[in-house]
Formats: sequence, C-alpha cells, structure tokens
Amino acid sequence: MEDIMASIYHLSLSREMIKEANYALLPGDPERVPKIARTFDENAIELAYKREFRTWLGNLEGKMVLVTSTGIGGPSTSIAVEELAQLGVHTFIRVGTTGAIQREIRLSDVIITTGSVRLDGASTHYAPVEYPAVANYEVVEALTRAAKTIGVNYYLGITCSSDTFYPGQERYNSSARYVIRKFQGSLEEWQKLNVLNYEMESSTLFVVCSSSGLRAGCVSGVVVNRTEQGKVKKDVIALAEKNATCVAIEAMKYLIQKQIFPH
Ligand code: URA
Repeated sequence: MEDIMASIYHLSLSREMIKEANYALLPGDPERVPKIARTFDENAIELAYKREFRTWLGNLEGKMVLVTSTGIGGPSTSIAVEELAQLGVHTFIRVGTTGAIQREIRLSDVIITTGSVRLDGASTHYAPVEYPAVANYEVVEALTRAAKTIGVNYYLGITCSSDTFYPGQERYNSSARYVIRKFQGSLEEWQKLNVLNYEMESSTLFVVCSSSGLRAGCVSGVVVNRTEQGKVKKDVIALAEKNATCVAIEAMKYLIQKQIFPH
C-alpha cells in the first residue's frame, strides 16, 4: 500500500503536510514564496525548503493553496509540477517575471500566456515537439477576468519560453559576447510572429500539465522591454511582481469558487 506519510523526494512534502491542497501558485524565486502566501493568508505557514523548492501553505476562500517555488527553467519546474501532481494538485498558476519584446507593452504590465514557443528541452521529455504548449482555457479566462477586476493592464498571447536567459533570448552581454547563429535575429523574428515576451518556465509547465490532464496558466509581470535600452530597476521589479501576484491570487479565487475541475 502507498505510504501517504512518506515525504516526496525533492519537495520534502507529504500528503499529510499539504492538507489535501489541489491548487498551487508557482513563482520561480524561493524568496517570493512567503510574500505571495502572506498576500492571501496572513497565517500561512512554511512547510518545506530544500534546494530551490520552498513551499508555503495558506487558506484562500476556504481551500488550502500551496505556494511552491520552481527555481529557474524547465528541469526544476518539471520536478516541482510532477511532485505536486503526485500529491494531488490539479491546478497550477505560474507567477513570474518577463521581458517584453513588443514595443507597446509597458513596464509592470502583465502578460497572460495563452501558448508558448517550446524553446526548452524538458517539455520534449513529456511530449514530442509537435505537441502544443498551451495554457488551460479556464485558467486563462480566470486570469483575464482577474486582471480586469483588479485594473492591471494586461496582454494576452504567445510567449517564447527559453531554456536560457542569454543566447536563447538573444542577449549579447554574455561572457562569450556571442550568440550562436540559430538565435541571431531570433528576437526580431519572434516580434514579427507576434510573440509578446520571453520567460523560462511556461512551456514546460503547460506540456507537463496538459499531457497529464492537469490545468495550468501563467501570468508574468514585465520587468524589462527589450525594444528599449536601460537597466532593470528594483521598483519596477517590485511593481511587476505585485501586479502578477494580485492577478494570480484573484484568478485562483475564481477557480476555487467555480470548482468545476476535474470535469
Ligand atoms: N525573465 C526572462 O526570462 N527574461 C527576461 O528578460 C526577464 C525575466
């Protein structure tokens, strides 16, 4: 018989500990976990912290909700999602930061991803490249409604989800100061194909979830616009994170209130 008291390997969580939580908010950065959890429940508690995976548990609308950091990129995201799913989580919202690539998108706006360019490797271990990386429509709807309700400026569309921050996002300020030919001119190409932004986890999250019958969405706060020069500023990061967090929590509330999943 399965031992429900046993703690799952990387996240150091057990079914007992998560108190039947089925919903999870997923920032990348462990430092953001307590901030997000306390935004919806001042009595939220820390459950575990191992490597990049930190988990807090709080109550939202009478349901237990987990906040777990995924670390950066596909491989660690796949572990977080995989292990949370094994513990019974079925609904995931990634709360991230992002670099916009379309000129009209302003700093601290949020981007709700409908589908992702699979510029990652981890998702190919779950489904072949022909398989789309798409967000769940109920989660997208909840995120859109949340942004409207809160009054946060939002864009809805396609994200380029890259395994690397430097070459894959065509940044030339790396140590080599070189981007391989495959990615030279790629930023402009994505712009022309109406891709809105770069981030590093959504394609893995979407493919892992849709291929396993789970639902996922992603909202990211814009910390930089790649069509403009200039350094990323702390106050911009803080506001972008706050906007994405508020939208994600409000969306989670709708999804909990609806309670139509699994169908
Ligand atoms: N996250 C990314 O992956 N890229 C950016 O430019 C900003 C945040």
